[in-house]
Amino acid sequence: MIPVTALTVDQAAEELAHLATEIARHDALYHGKDAPEISDGDYDALVRRNRDIEARFPDLIREDSPSGRVGAVPADGFDNVTHAVPMLSLGNVFDDDEAREFDQKIRRFLSLDAEDPIAYVAEPKIDGLSFSARYEGGRFVRAATRGDGATGEDITANMMTITALPKTLPGKDVPAVLEVRGEVYMGKADFRALNARQVERGGKIFANPRNAAAGSLRQLDSKITAERALSLFAYSWGEVEGLEMATHHEFLERLRGWGFPVTPETRACEGVDALIEATADLALKRADLDYDIDGVVYKVDRIDWQKRLGFVSRAPRWAIARKFPAEKAQTRINAIHVQVGRTGVLTPVAELEPVTVGGVVVSRATLHNQDEIDRKDIRVGDMVTIQRAGDVIPQVVEVLLDHRPGDSTPYAMPDRCPVCGAHVVQQEGEVARRCSGGLTCAAQAVERLKHFVSRDAFDIEGLGGKHIEAFYERGEIRAPADIFRLKETDEGNDLIKLRNREGWGAKSAENLFKAIDDRRTIPLPRFIYALGIRQVGQATARLLAEHYPSLSSWRAAMEAAGESEENEAFTALKNINGIGPSMARDLVAFFAETHNQEALDALGTHLTVTDFERVTTAESSPLSGKTVVFTGTLETMSRGEAKARAQALGAKVAGSVSAKTDYVVVGADAGSKEKKARDLGLAILTEQDFKEIIDA
Ligand code: IVH
Repeated sequence: MIPVTALTVDQAAEELAHLATEIARHDALYHGKDAPEISDGDYDALVRRNRDIEARFPDLIREDSPSGRVGAVPADGFDNVTHAVPMLSLGNVFDDDEAREFDQKIRRFLSLDAEDPIAYVAEPKIDGLSFSARYEGGRFVRAATRGDGATGEDITANMMTITALPKTLPGKDVPAVLEVRGEVYMGKADFRALNARQVERGGKIFANPRNAAAGSLRQLDSKITAERALSLFAYSWGEVEGLEMATHHEFLERLRGWGFPVTPETRACEGVDALIEATADLALKRADLDYDIDGVVYKVDRIDWQKRLGFVSRAPRWAIARKFPAEKAQTRINAIHVQVGRTGVLTPVAELEPVTVGGVVVSRATLHNQDEIDRKDIRVGDMVTIQRAGDVIPQVVEVLLDHRPGDSTPYAMPDRCPVCGAHVVQQEGEVARRCSGGLTCAAQAVERLKHFVSRDAFDIEGLGGKHIEAFYERGEIRAPADIFRLKETDEGNDLIKLRNREGWGAKSAENLFKAIDDRRTIPLPRFIYALGIRQVGQATARLLAEHYPSLSSWRAAMEAAGESEENEAFTALKNINGIGPSMARDLVAFFAETHNQEALDALGTHLTVTDFERVTTAESSPLSGKTVVFTGTLETMSRGEAKARAQALGAKVAGSVSAKTDYVVVGADAGSKEKKARDLGLAILTEQDFKEIIDA
């Protein structure tokens, strides 16, 4: 096998495609059919190989990548750990009926009679971060986060600092290998104390205990983790060798014996009614517990039954999470403020009388847009019910009309931008209202700059949102290119050098200039994404780069498309599978703005934007780089599929026939396009010809 470091782009792409199919096939054999063809070790090796190739060629990560969402790939800075046994997630149920269904399914699966009792365990669902801690011969050797379930981050050094984690297992009778799994959390009292300290130090304030625990555990510097009061509960296992037990309860007892904290709220439940009762009890106790919980986990106690029940995709059949309903509270709206986002969208935000919802103090809630305000008739001064579910921003559920002050008036969003004073416009068919100020609006300019340097864009370390705001205010960074001139600006005649400013030092200033220099070369998809064009997210940016593989070709095509919606360039753009007319218009609109053109020109003098290298084996396909037009009705596939298949092989799909068309694929009842193609003497393919090419 070629070492990952020696792979060429083409080889890597080919192998990733192959691994995606192979791993999916083995998953199906393993989970669906219980008939694996290869050992767990060999399977892990495939997953590892896939991950390592993706780590070296992040641009090649496929949509069907077996490593899951791109965002789940371990963050930079920590080593990766492949879990010997994957860390799974849980299915959810939300009410008593669904809980009973869970019980019924288990009965059916195990062919139990209605009278046969099932012993369950009800455990609090701890709202923290899951970990897996490995012990060999009774000594703690490694800990990892869950990551994407297959691979996590190595957090050994940080877990070492948590006193609640046993570092050695007492007694003679310890398993040869034991992976203990559980949840790291921060107690509510410790969370409040941490935030109070952070306020004093001017540090980051955490929204809730879970975020505080995450921020503390995923510190590259374990000294910081050590300063934070983290605790944990253990509740399950991964790889084990030399440990026999009959029930989950027994396992929890063993854990206690070895010194692991196990939540005292765990209940043995005979039958589903007892589970339901335990859930109600725990819901009442929830506010008094020192840790946040977001539900109850129901588990079948007998381990032989757990083994028989097994897994469906990524969740066990023998356990389920019973989620608590979203937490609600009542409070008053003191004011409504309007925020201006990167693309000028105005978002109304309610300023609330601070209220505790599920242990978290909430003082703002998003109102989304004017339509939403009208629909719920939300007014300043209203008492409202707000709701918070998990990590999402709190929302206003309803207005308590009985409490409405007599003098209240309906709320209307301003018709001038609250930041720059420009007119607010609303496009037909859109709910959003936007500031028309463009980059002359400080709010939009700053948000665009923040986006430009953000993690998935230029990813400039040490240049966070607050810094951007400060540089913008001082006039040092107003446009993206200014970032790359920052060092020169600083060396010029500014009165206070960066290194002498508050919050900066010689080292951090030097690091920032270096981080900026590190980004003077950037791959095309990232560059496109960084521009912050309306509707153009990472996936679209990549799609554009696939079709227009160099900055100059992309720019030229977008400018050409801007000349007329009828022309070939516009048609080719909107016909790209995944783009469409609305996005095509936003792209063209971006290039129509002089200040955007100027920004691009200025960036060009500082940056090298690297061409996109094609992911597919497209070069070898006869369709690669060719312009294809479809006409008539295809019999064996939809037009959409045909386009997608052609594009996957590197073709450009156009809407109309011209001298530049390479192939015209003709289905049934083709009309004028076929005639024109014949008149022009173009290559004509039948559906069968086309299929032979794409299936080759
Ligand atoms: S058991 C195969 N028990 O919830 C068994 N999970 O939504 C998997 N969690 O990834 C987990 N408290 O991080 C289990 N008492 C508990 C839990 C618990 C919290 C988390 C865990 C899991 C997630 C699934």
